[in-house]
Amino acid sequence: MTPLRSRPARCRTAVLRRGAVLATVPVVLAALVGATGPTAAGGSGAGDPYFPLSGNGGYHVRHYDLTLRYDTSSRHLDGRAVLDSRATQDLSRFDLDLTGLKVTGVTVDGTRAAFRRDGQELVVTPRHTLRAGRDFRVTVTYDGTPKPVTDPDGSTDGWIPTDDGAFVAGEPQGAMTWFPANGHPKDKSSYDITITVPQGRTAVSNGVLLGQRTEHGRTTFRWRESRPMAAYLATATVGTFKVEQYTTADGIHVYNAVDPREASAAAPVLKQLPSVLAWASRLFGPYPFRSAGSIVDHAPDVGYALEAQTRPLYDSAPDLSTLVHESAHQWFGDSVSLTAWKDIWLNEGFATYAEWLYAEQHGGDSAQKTFDALYAHPASDHLWAFPPGDPGSGRNIFDTPVYARGAMTLHELRRAVGDPDFFRILRAWAAAHRDGHGTTAQFERLAGRISGKRLDGLFRVWLFTEGKPKDA
Ligand code: TRP
Ligand code: ZN
Repeated sequence: MTPLRSRPARCRTAVLRRGAVLATVPVVLAALVGATGPTAAGGSGAGDPYFPLSGNGGYHVRHYDLTLRYDTSSRHLDGRAVLDSRATQDLSRFDLDLTGLKVTGVTVDGTRAAFRRDGQELVVTPRHTLRAGRDFRVTVTYDGTPKPVTDPDGSTDGWIPTDDGAFVAGEPQGAMTWFPANGHPKDKSSYDITITVPQGRTAVSNGVLLGQRTEHGRTTFRWRESRPMAAYLATATVGTFKVEQYTTADGIHVYNAVDPREASAAAPVLKQLPSVLAWASRLFGPYPFRSAGSIVDHAPDVGYALEAQTRPLYDSAPDLSTLVHESAHQWFGDSVSLTAWKDIWLNEGFATYAEWLYAEQHGGDSAQKTFDALYAHPASDHLWAFPPGDPGSGRNIFDTPVYARGAMTLHELRRAVGDPDFFRILRAWAAAHRDGHGTTAQFERLAGRISGKRLDGLFRVWLFTEGKPKDA
């Protein structure tokens, strides 16, 4: 294992998205008006300073029903999204996140609603104000050529076309490139995703495959994820794939889709999936979902993998360590979601530490050895550029300090409380926040409660203090 490898092949050039800074001011104003004015508008964001326009205020989406048709040669997408939602305040209007694409119609409870586009916001004004607590159904029809978004760190995410389809990875904000979303992990929903593609191509999404049917040269795949899922973890990846399906001894339905160009490299690693999930279940508690699997695409320009819920997505054949990482995210990141992107170490530090634990328990380096190798990096090293509990901006959320120093934080915790309490803490965390959310402060409190130790110094130093921690 090369300890300093951060998960993605990083591109550190900071590219500020067009208008990102200027957009902040109207957002704040809109939020104030929404809270105090007579208009009862839902907010244009979920209140996350790293991605101020991600997500929306004023309603919760309980279920998305997406019906998509993708033409792999013209790269045209036709979509219909039905969002079963609940107002959490009176709503005279509300926003959805959607970028690019053309909206051809919006209805609320079957009645045509007015809409306008404002950057990544699709602003919907229903005929009548929706009262707080009310359930309502929004239907949006749209089409066009989806394009990925460029994130503050220069990476792209969302609907990324490939030579045989599309690699669809929405972290942190790419869901809006292919469906109208309440696109912040604060809002979790169940999903039905139906995708029609040219015959011979396969469309892979989350959860279980309810059915597939070929007609007039096109195949329709019907997928369902019934456990709550953040929008960024939804996928609808399309390509030429070899498919393998089986049920594990634990009753988990596995669906693997592999680009033939990656098949020989992927096979020995994917074979380990049941044993990796069984191993992780012993350490972290029961696997949080009923289905599992992998999508191994050939998308050489992407440069990262994504822990799509139930079905991690790889841009090429993963190594075993990456498979372990994305598998661990099913507990840490997918089942237990972030409430703010600044807490990203709860995802990446945990998944990275799972890699260390896996190595330690399978004849590789001990976690202590991996920790020591990292700690040997001089104070000037990029590893110590910022503390993982406070990455400072969306530009840093997938950078080395989050992954490596985040994992080091867990190792320090383990040394402070001892193995039995450490693994009790991890299991209690996954169990208490299953299908929900967690914050760094909650994790700190849980660790303190279970161990009976004062851990605030440890967390303060490792998560929140600039520079290389003094004594390890
Ligand atoms: N969460 C992914 C992982 O750790 C990495 C990732 C997803 C990513 N989207 C990204 C990295 C965008 C950089 C840019 O496995
Ligand atoms: Zn990760």
